[in-house]
Amino acid sequence: MSDIPLFAPSEEHEAIREACRAVCRDKVAPHAAEVDEREIFPQESYDALRAADFHAPHIPEAYEGVGADALATAIVIEEIARVCVSSSLIPAVNKLGTMPLLLAGSEEQKRRYLPPVARGEAMFSYCLSEPEAGSDAAALRTRAVRDGDGWVLNGVKRWITNAGVSDYYLVFAATGEPAAESSSRRPISAFVVEKSDPGVSFGKPEKKLGIRGSPTREVYFDNVRLPADRLVGAEGEGFKLAMRTLDHTRVTIAAQAVGVAQGALDYATAYVKERRQFGQPIADFQAVRFMLADMAMRLEAARQLTYAAAARSERSDPDLTFFGAAAKCYASDVAMEITTNAVQLLGGYGYTRDYPVERMMRDAKITQIYEGTNQIQRLVMARHLLG
Ligand code: CAA
Ligand code: FAD
Repeated sequence: MSDIPLFAPSEEHEAIREACRAVCRDKVAPHAAEVDEREIFPQESYDALRAADFHAPHIPEAYEGVGADALATAIVIEEIARVCVSSSLIPAVNKLGTMPLLLAGSEEQKRRYLPPVARGEAMFSYCLSEPEAGSDAAALRTRAVRDGDGWVLNGVKRWITNAGVSDYYLVFAATGEPAAESSSRRPISAFVVEKSDPGVSFGKPEKKLGIRGSPTREVYFDNVRLPADRLVGAEGEGFKLAMRTLDHTRVTIAAQAVGVAQGALDYATAYVKERRQFGQPIADFQAVRFMLADMAMRLEAARQLTYAAAARSERSDPDLTFFGAAAKCYASDVAMEITTNAVQLLGGYGYTRDYPVERMMRDAKITQIYEGTNQIQRLVMARHLLG
């Protein structure tokens, strides 16, 4: 694999981290428990992130964005996830939904759809998964059939983050017939669908274990007519576009995992210095110290791998497929371990909603599942290694 030098955050990256941390401390963290408890979209976070330009920082300046690079975007997501994973899905999914346009959209499509997201007037969701096509994404059944110059779209997408809240949807659908008799797979193409298009509707919000402030719903397409200019990239190239997108955005899920793990470690570290048992702070017990040391060591390894993947994303390096999968897989496993250990270090208190670590543990779990389960990440890594 290519030898890219370590991509250490610059002073500018650290300044972005500090600025984002302050917004998160003052405007995002105070609502984190409530959006989880009430299962409501974190509107206060969205408003605060928009005011500070952290809601979609990856959008280039040419489209009215602030043009943050992949590392800066990862740092923003990490800082938000440190206090509220649900809120971190605002910039993460805005990046996921718009990435196919950035990679393959026409200039006209970019000028139409990116500025409203950059201005914080619209959000963008990504619709790949279906009830019968999760890990096996290429088995999707949603179909777009040619109709004059345009298309007619029918089908169901499942598990769509920010569905109902987003104004725009990047939808992957089968177009045409399988190329060969031996293949059951139809070519797949990508389309922009607008919430206001007649025939678009949404299912009930899912009742979830974690990220309960992030709406997840089905999206239904019932004879949705799409003009020709909604096709993104070349017809039949949609699956590769979906995969190329995920190569970049698995880095943002890794950043989310690093953030929630840091939040849990910070809380547990402060707690063990205060909590006394057997006449001394529990931080004085070697068993507790070794747990903290392991947590911090693994977290730093996850962070470095995430930043190395961000460097590959920024340069569209050929090994990004491996690094994106590796960072997402490693960081999410580490996040699950660290948040679980944080609950352990708080004992019975950690198990209650009076303390934030149980929410962090519930939120961390999704990072092992979405944007491809960690089994799928291992499959992706192995395929990349073996060629
Ligand atoms: N870049 C470019 N092209 C790629 C590619 C990549 N990273 N990965 C695969 N391709 C190409 C292959 O080269 C192949 O091209 P040819 O037909 O020309 O040979 C084609 O795509 C098909 O590839 P595979 O044979 O590898 O496809 P597969 O059906 O075996 O599946 C998979 C591959 C990796 C399992 C894929 O289905 C996958 O990633 N599954 C997980 C789905 C997923 O991650 N979903 C995320 C949904 S979004 C989400 O979850 C968001 C959120 O929560 C916030
Ligand atoms: P399945 O594919 O049914 O997998 C079940 C189990 O089988 C897993 O453990 C899996 O690892 C294992 N498995 C499957 N195939 C293999 C294999 N080949 N080898 C080894 N093990 C295997 N999707 C979107 O398109 N857009 C979104 O915005 C979005 N947001 C989401 C938000 C949430 C909260 C959730 C829960 C999901 C979201 N998803 C989204 C979907 C997500 O990407 C899928 O849930 C995920 O890819 C797994 O698919 P599945 O749930 O169908 O599980």
